[in-house]
Amino acid sequence: MSGIWVAIGLSQDLPLGVVTAGRWQGAELAIWRAGSGRLSAWNDRCPHRGMRLSHGFVRGETLSCIYHGWTYGSDGACRKIPAHPAMVPPAAIQAEVYACVEADGVIWVAPAASDVALPDLSGLKPVRSITVQANAIALARALPGFVAQDTVWRGEVAGAAVALVLQDRDATLRLHALGAGDRVAVSRWLDGLRRLVEEGALV
Ligand code: FES
Repeated sequence: MSGIWVAIGLSQDLPLGVVTAGRWQGAELAIWRAGSGRLSAWNDRCPHRGMRLSHGFVRGETLSCIYHGWTYGSDGACRKIPAHPAMVPPAAIQAEVYACVEADGVIWVAPAASDVALPDLSGLKPVRSITVQANAIALARALPGFVAQDTVWRGEVAGAAVALVLQDRDATLRLHALGAGDRVAVSRWLDGLRRLVEEGALV
């Protein structure tokens, strides 16, 4: 499965010093941005007792687990165990790190870095992400030119280029929208698309 980049969100939705939960093809992730802006995506389980790291907190360039405070650096290595302050944590204590890149305002995650090219979304600006209670087949019925296996759909809204990047596509769709024109027009179009797809999915 390595090398499969999946768009898991928009850069604008993850500010400095924030950790949030995300998904990569069903795998649960903790995605966090350090004070320097560096982005990381890890398996959402603490190596200690399995608490969700997405419930933890970011301090500078580290992420701390909310349960016992074990603290990890951006490379996933444990830096500090508060119950044993004099101990250097063994190198084997390591969060499971995914590859994570940002391009054109979209966050992409894969199990390991690869040379697989990302879609070219240059010239477009991130607008927003939406969740649609339908699958990719219902989206294909509502969106001209979209095929259920596609990862990116390109079209126009109000005369300007638009792209939709698919994250989840099965029971629920997660879509990330970018556009070259009026953001409000794209946002309204997204709301209409969601209604159309969800109503079509009920037929
Ligand atoms: S479960 Fe994370 S520090 Fe204990």
